[in-house]
Amino acid sequence: MTYQNYSLKQLQEIDAAHHLHPFTDHKDLRGTGSRMITRAEGPFVYDSEGKEILDGMAGLWCVNIGYGRNELAKAAYAQMKELPYYNSFFKCTTPTPVLLAKRLAEIAPSNMNQVFYGSSGSEANDTALRLVRHYWALEGKPQKNRIISRNWAYHGSTITGTSLGGMAAMHGQLNGAVPNIVHVMPPYAFELAKPGESDHDFGLRAAKAVEDAILEAGAENVAAFIGEPVMGAGGVKIAPDSYWPEIQRICRKHDVLLMLDEVITGYGRTGEWFAAQSLGIEADTITTAKALTSGYQPLSALLVGDRISSTLVEKGGEFYHGYTYSGHPVACAVALVNLDIIEKEGLIDRVRDETGPYLAKALDECLAGHGIVGEVRSIGLMAAIEIVKDKDSRARFENGGFAAATVRDHAIAGGMMMRAVGDTMILSPPLIWTKDTIDMACDRIGKALDLAERDLRK
Ligand SMILES: Cc1ncc(COP(=O)(O)O)c(C=O)c1O
Repeated sequence: MTYQNYSLKQLQEIDAAHHLHPFTDHKDLRGTGSRMITRAEGPFVYDSEGKEILDGMAGLWCVNIGYGRNELAKAAYAQMKELPYYNSFFKCTTPTPVLLAKRLAEIAPSNMNQVFYGSSGSEANDTALRLVRHYWALEGKPQKNRIISRNWAYHGSTITGTSLGGMAAMHGQLNGAVPNIVHVMPPYAFELAKPGESDHDFGLRAAKAVEDAILEAGAENVAAFIGEPVMGAGGVKIAPDSYWPEIQRICRKHDVLLMLDEVITGYGRTGEWFAAQSLGIEADTITTAKALTSGYQPLSALLVGDRISSTLVEKGGEFYHGYTYSGHPVACAVALVNLDIIEKEGLIDRVRDETGPYLAKALDECLAGHGIVGEVRSIGLMAAIEIVKDKDSRARFENGGFAAATVRDHAIAGGMMMRAVGDTMILSPPLIWTKDTIDMACDRIGKALDLAERDLRK
C-alpha cells in the first residue's frame, strides 16, 4: 500500500490540508491531528503506531462479522472482474441485487417482501420518507403526509436524515428542515421518568406522546411514525417493554404507518435478524444498512412491507426516485457472503443465547457498582453506561459531556475503543465477541472509569 511510504506526521499533515472529516470540529482537529487506523483483524483495530485497540463500536456499528474476512474480499474481486457495475434503472438489473432481495425477504419479518437499495442509511431513510408519502398519495390521501419522530433520534445526516432525526445540534445547523416532521419525547427512562414512576408506566407515557401528536395533527394528516427500535447514536436508549406494543397499537388504531429504522439493530445485533422480531412488532418499512455488508461495502436496503408494495403495483405510475448505485452488484455480492457468514457461524443465536446475556451480566457485576456509573443497560450486543457524579441523585458532572469524554479518552488510551454521547458511554461490538472478549472489555472499561473518576473528582 502506498501509504506506507509516508510517515504518520506526513499523513496527518496531508489529512489536515485536504480532508474534511465528518462530525468534526475542524479547528480542534488541526490542534490534535487525527488517529490513523491502518489495519484490523478479528475484533481488533491497529493504529499507525501499531497499537492494538479492541473495537467496542464495530467500526461505526457495522462490522458485525469482524475484520479480515477473506471471503468478502474474494466475492468483491470476483464480481468486479465479471461485472463491476450496471444499473437497475429502466427495467434492467444484475443478478446479485436480485438474489440478495430474495435472501432479505427470507430473513425479514413475513410481511416484508420487497427491497429498495441505496448506499447508506441516510439514503434509505430518504427513500422511506418519499415512499411513505407516495403511498398515501396513491391511496388518494396526499394530505396524510406528516411524520412523527422523536427527540434524540438519529436517522442520518442528509437533509432528510437530519429532519427525521431529533438531534438538536444538527437541527441548529439545518436552516430549513423537510416540512411536516414533528418530534416527541423519547422512551428514555433514566432521565425522563418521574420519581417513583415504574418503567412500565413510563413506557406507556412515552408512547402516549406519539398518540397525542397524532391527535393534535389529526390522524387524517399523519402518514407514519418513525423510530429506531433501540435509539443508537442518541445513546443506546432502550425502551421499556411496554413501549413498542403500545406504539404498534396506536399506529394501527389511527391507520398510521410504522417505519422502523434498523440501520444499527439490523442483522443480528439484538439477537434476531431484526429487532422487529426481537420486539414482536410488525412494521411497514424497515431501514437497513451498515451490517448488511458488515461495513465491507457501502450498501443499504429499505425493506418494504406488502401493504405499500402492493399499492405500488396495483396503482402503477412511476416512482421518480433512485440512485446510481441502487443495487450495486459488487456491494450486493459482498452482502450475500456476509449474510451467509452470519448464518453459518450462528452469530445471531450466539448473541441471543450466550454473549448478549453474558454482556448484561458482566456489565452489571463489574461496572454497575462503580462510583461514577448511574446505570448500565444492554440489549443483545448493544450497551450503555451512564456517567454520573452522584449515584443516588443521578446528578451529572459539570460541563455536560466532559465526563464521558474523559472516560472515552482513557478507554482508547487503554486499548478500548468506545464512544461517548453526552454523558453516556456506548458499546456496540462485532458479533464475533466471545465471553473472553467481553471480560477483556469490562476490565479495560473498568480501568478507564477508575482513571476518569480520579481526574473528575480532583
Ligand atoms: C439509526 C440510523 N439511521 C440512519 C443512519 C445513517 O446511516 P448512514 O451514516 O449510512 O447514512 C444511522 C447511522 O449511524 C443510524 O444509526
